[in-house]
Amino acid sequence: MAIVSPSLLAADFLHLDREIEMINRSEADWLHLDVMDGSFVPNISFGFPVMEAVASACKKPLDVHYMIVGPERYIQQTARLGAMMMNVHYEACTHLHRTIQEIHDAGMKAGVTLNPATPVCLLEDIIDDVDMVLLMSVNPGFGGQKFIDTILKKTRQLRQMIDVHGSKALIEIDGGVQQQTAPLLVQAGADVLVAGSYVFRSSRPEDTIQELKRL
Ligand code: DX5
Ligand code: ZN
Repeated sequence: MAIVSPSLLAADFLHLDREIEMINRSEADWLHLDVMDGSFVPNISFGFPVMEAVASACKKPLDVHYMIVGPERYIQQTARLGAMMMNVHYEACTHLHRTIQEIHDAGMKAGVTLNPATPVCLLEDIIDDVDMVLLMSVNPGFGGQKFIDTILKKTRQLRQMIDVHGSKALIEIDGGVQQQTAPLLVQAGADVLVAGSYVFRSSRPEDTIQELKRL
């Protein structure tokens, strides 16, 4: 059964309380929070004031995805938020190994994220240290984009690397996850599905989450 992590980016920001209540009632395993700085990615989303409010109401573990330059500057603040997982981009971290250690020292699980054009083989020397690899199946920055098909091959490559290493890392896929793409991703070896618009724009979001879980 896939772990499902709905992305709050597609939620109705005017009624976040209702959206979080829906997540709490649903079978969602985690809640995915997309932080964007307008520099690493072209868009700006939300930051700590919003995440603190969400954390105070959300009963599901928080899966925070930083699309920002120098995410290591926010490790302590993210830990204070009570986040379960802190995902940082490979492309945004000069000293990735140190950053992963610091995330662990702060008491969180550590994830490394790859943009669509960044190959899986670059993770060879860090795969034993991370709890999750987040593969972007769209270019980060916006919800509702078209799924990039090459991610299926990449997911299989990563599955193989993880198995060869005996690593405990989970594979999470983010971007364009919906009815057609989700089963293919699970088949290719994905453990965690992030879904933004597919869940929050659904007329019955709780059923949509349940459907993703039952794949
Ligand atoms: C994109 C974000 C995603 C986004 C996914 O940069 O990282 O988490 O919310 O949105 P959908 O599921 O609509 O493609
Ligand atoms: Zn994300």
